[in-house]
Amino acid sequence: MKILFIGDVVGSPGRDMVQEYLPKLKAKYQPAVTIINGENSASGKGINEKIYRSFLEWGANAVTLGNHAWDKKEIFDFIDDATYMVRPANYPEGTPGKGITFVKTNHGEVAVLNLQGRTFLSPNDDPFRKVDELIKEAKKRTNIIFLDFHAETTSEKQAMGWYVDGRVSINVGTHTHVQTADERILPGGTGYITDVGMTGPYDGILGMDREAVIKRFLTNLPVRFEVPKKGRKQLSAVLADVEESTGKARKLQRIMINDDHPFFG
Ligand SMILES: [Fe+2]
Repeated sequence: MKILFIGDVVGSPGRDMVQEYLPKLKAKYQPAVTIINGENSASGKGINEKIYRSFLEWGANAVTLGNHAWDKKEIFDFIDDATYMVRPANYPEGTPGKGITFVKTNHGEVAVLNLQGRTFLSPNDDPFRKVDELIKEAKKRTNIIFLDFHAETTSEKQAMGWYVDGRVSINVGTHTHVQTADERILPGGTGYITDVGMTGPYDGILGMDREAVIKRFLTNLPVRFEVPKKGRKQLSAVLADVEESTGKARKLQRIMINDDHPFFG
């Protein structure tokens, strides 16, 4: 079974890329399931219901989140009704939403998990103990398990990869917005990449207007970061192939679409 995952969609440039290329990617690769990280999809911070629904309309089956999940207050009005949206599971007990959902396909169900790292991010519950619980819950229904680990440091992400090796099918990292070239199948059969990269402005800094970010570095003064409305764009993704009965990954490949890496349909 093929699973397509699109990395952190940033603002309207990111959404434009999803709308334009998701149908083309689906036609080319025929994924059974498509998952999008949407935590930055509303003006660079958070997500709203309209955007969540448009991702599903454009062909996604599930949406994952991260530390910016809560930045648009509207999230609290719809997260509990958004069946195919997951937020990091290791927020404190009682946090709205959920950290696991299941997508039905012709080849069986796919469990979609979302967790958040703790290094340089808020001190949430332990994602490692939490992933044990989620895997147990997922295994009651399926062997095909997809995990988006939204974390800042390469070490915490690699630690998660090795920790879940052989227990989840695919473990992608998100949040740092730069695609890493370390995609591999770990010895236990987990497809792993430290970071899938960002979908949005190509000539900004991590998807934000570069002038503002440079000004922050030059002055150390507070600066408002905004998503540039104009300019070149990119899409970052991975395509996984998973053996359905065992849930082991066969293949994981990076996808990058921008002016330096044009898409061939
Ligand atoms: Fe993030």
